[in-house]
Amino acid sequence: MKPDLHARWSIGSVEIPGRLVLAPMAGVSVQAFRRQGRRYGAGLVCSEMVSCAGLSHGNERTLGYLRIGRDEHPLAVQIFGSEPGIMAEAARMVEDAGADLVDINFGCPVRKVTKTGAGATLLEEPDRACRIVESVANAVSVPVSVKMRRGLHNGSRAALAVGPKLVDAGAASLTLHPRSARQMYTGTADHELTAELVDLVDVPVIASGDVNARERAEEVLETTGCAAVMVGRAAQGNPWALGEIAGRLDGEPTREEIVAELLFFMHDTVEEMGESRATGFLKKFYGWYLGHGRFPKPFKQELVQLETVSEVEDRLLEAAPGAQVVAERLKAALPKPDNVVLDLPVSIYAGG
Ligand SMILES: Cc1cc2nc3c(=O)[nH]c(=O)nc-3n(C[C@H](O)[C@H](O)[C@H](O)COP(=O)(O)O)c2cc1C
Repeated sequence: MKPDLHARWSIGSVEIPGRLVLAPMAGVSVQAFRRQGRRYGAGLVCSEMVSCAGLSHGNERTLGYLRIGRDEHPLAVQIFGSEPGIMAEAARMVEDAGADLVDINFGCPVRKVTKTGAGATLLEEPDRACRIVESVANAVSVPVSVKMRRGLHNGSRAALAVGPKLVDAGAASLTLHPRSARQMYTGTADHELTAELVDLVDVPVIASGDVNARERAEEVLETTGCAAVMVGRAAQGNPWALGEIAGRLDGEPTREEIVAELLFFMHDTVEEMGESRATGFLKKFYGWYLGHGRFPKPFKQELVQLETVSEVEDRLLEAAPGAQVVAERLKAALPKPDNVVLDLPVSIYAGG
């Protein structure tokens, strides 16, 4: 029998309505992306990694990552850092902001992060990693989860050595992206390691890496025994991939549907971060949405050159006039976003 992607499962006390999880991705997993992920069938969505030092210093831009909408739940907010006390303080802020889960990043391979002793480096420092998990778990009442790579070096099995210890320290769930930090995104995710981790721990394990279609999602669920699969790059500018994996959609979206979804995403993003930040942020999404052979390359290049979001909107509507009606229908069908607005200056959404 095929695994049921719609089966409910839970992390500690948090019930999750489906076995498809939208990955945390820096520079991508903004609120608009997470909301869209929920609409297309993700049972759990995650924020991008948030600096615990930034939260602790009250950095306005970092605090902006704690803006959580009511239509996002269940939602994990991910934090990174290397000091147990500061991570605990950040975790309390995340809980106060309304997150259902606090996720800890032990997987980031980027030098800017690892050189501070955070991210994947902690896989080679099990004692410190456990102290971080313990102090975060003691600081909050929501469940705490951890996301890891397999280790720092190619072929490393550090995640298997440290995983059970993190569970003893208080982790209620583990996500494994079974590539080494050195690999970055090359090679393939070795989900045989995920299966080994599942056997070693008695908390739910989420498998991350190279899940890009329903068949692959089912295969990973079946062969590893994991509780859920996480989808990252396949969902960038492509919510239809999530819909296909969730079994809600079959076949390619029309040009009008693509443009309508992109227009909606642009609108949501401008609301979230203000027009000036959104203009630059959105550029990478044009290629993602309009790629896959859906629109000609010169058209994507033309959009990236335009200076304002409204110019891009006009050009998109010229290319697919029918998208306006589809976008309006889409907007009307959605509940009004009802943000838990923190007591923060508005500039965090507009500035930086
Ligand atoms: C642009 C980008 C940003 C990412 N940022 C994060 C992050 O902030 N936190 C994290 O735990 N993983 C991050 N990841 C890793 C993903 O969550 C995921 O584990 C990885 O991309 C493998 O899954 P995929 O093959 O489905 O993309 C990022 C990946 C990408 C491509």
